[in-house]
Amino acid sequence: MEKQYGVVGGRPWAYWLSNSILEYFRADECRSFVVEKNGEVAAFYSYVIDKARSVGTVGYNGVAKGHQGTGIGSLMMDRVMDGFRSEEMEYATVLVADNEEHVPALRNYEKHGFHRLTGYHELVQKL
Ligand SMILES: CC(C)(COP(=O)(O)OP(=O)(O)OC[C@H]1O[C@@H](n2cnc3c(N)ncnc32)[C@H](O)[C@@H]1OP(=O)(O)O)[C@@H](O)C(=O)NCCC(=O)NCCS
Repeated sequence: MEKQYGVVGGRPWAYWLSNSILEYFRADECRSFVVEKNGEVAAFYSYVIDKARSVGTVGYNGVAKGHQGTGIGSLMMDRVMDGFRSEEMEYATVLVADNEEHVPALRNYEKHGFHRLTGYHELVQKL
């Protein structure tokens, strides 16, 4: 929306996103981790466990720009999949936007065994 309409709600997209990430981390069923490299934060990842359905869902994750393309994202996905198995999940899911910015993420998920289940359309209009 910011790309199309400019700043929404008087604050940049990163502000709203970081708030929703922090909210997501607070849930009991959420597991969240930080990756450090040489004493600095290089990445973070998270996932949610749904014990009733035996479904693990990959959550917010990202590698700092200076560390991208060095294998950390792949390592994080290995850890997520290990986490799902150790919590006895039967299925793993993830939602990923169908845009250019998420091409690396989509490829990383496919590399770790995910395949496309369905697509969603996110629609918008300015009122
Ligand atoms: C997605 C992301 C976490 C990958 O982390 P990374 O440390 O750069 O990834 P890696 O170096 O471990 O590469 C893992 C795989 O990702 C894919 N990948 C990484 N960079 C890519 C790029 N520029 N283009 C296409 N695929 C890419 C490849 O499949 C790669 O495996 P390969 O090298 O064996 O082909 C990182 O690009 C990122 O933080 N993106 C922005 C935030 C984001 O999209 N988060 C996911 C939200 S759903």
